[in-house]
Amino acid sequence: MDSKLSVRAQKNDFGAELTGIALNKPLSAQQVEEIKHLWHRYQVVYFPDQPLTHPQLEAFTLAMGPFGHDPYIQAIENHQHILEIRRDPDEAVAPFGGSWHSDWSFQPAPPSATILHAKVVPPVGGATHYADGIRAFEALDAGFRDDLSSLRAVHSARRPYSHEGYRLGGERRSMKILPNDDAWATQVHPLIRTHPASGRQALWINPVYTLSIEGLEENESQAMLERLFAHLLQPEFTYRHRWSENMLTMWDNRSVLHCAQGGYDGYRRIMHRTTVAGSAPFHRPEVTSLERNI
Ligand code: SIN
Repeated sequence: MDSKLSVRAQKNDFGAELTGIALNKPLSAQQVEEIKHLWHRYQVVYFPDQPLTHPQLEAFTLAMGPFGHDPYIQAIENHQHILEIRRDPDEAVAPFGGSWHSDWSFQPAPPSATILHAKVVPPVGGATHYADGIRAFEALDAGFRDDLSSLRAVHSARRPYSHEGYRLGGERRSMKILPNDDAWATQVHPLIRTHPASGRQALWINPVYTLSIEGLEENESQAMLERLFAHLLQPEFTYRHRWSENMLTMWDNRSVLHCAQGGYDGYRRIMHRTTVAGSAPFHRPEVTSLERNI
């Protein structure tokens, strides 16, 4: 597809800056298609200097697809689909999202995209790290990829969002977290996920929500997960994203893990977050990255 946007890709084509568009105006069908195409290709796309009101952030999100369902966190008043990710200068708690995860992977149909809009950016720290599940999968040897392709992983929200798990995380003052017993529920998803638009395969597990691998003994399951997390989170598959005020970033939650860095004690950081609804994860081993359509 010919791009009307200016694209500045990060190393390994994982992450790209997109300029030459104003996101506070209604987007044409062609602009939406172009953004989605680039998002599928680079997985993390970011647009600097995009001041947006709440309705404009909602309109951009809806242009990408229907809103996702965001449980366990109280939304902004009168804007039920916008969450404020906030940490104040005197707050001692670990940053929200400070361990590697994919958003809401415990849902039957987790969000396809997460959109984060930077409102207040600290002068130090505060980056977000991203990990590329596609390149991590492709770097495994073929025999091991085959072994993994029939496995399914068990996901749950219990570690951060059950009452017990939440208590362990320490008191969070600037954000209202709503722990609930339904966080104990589990959801099984394929360990290798086929991207519904690009056909690319991704290693799709994360240390926060993935509890175990279905059908393996506990010690075998933990050993396999630890091995896969260590592989996936190697520096060669990750990218450190620095924010500037009013930058909007959208990542593909179907192949990307992320983690908030912290390192800004004494400063305020405020981000506004929405999600785009996704579909049930599936694995079609017959679709290989060589056939991918981007
Ligand atoms: C998140 O996990 O959604 C928050 C990421 C961040 O604040 O950098």
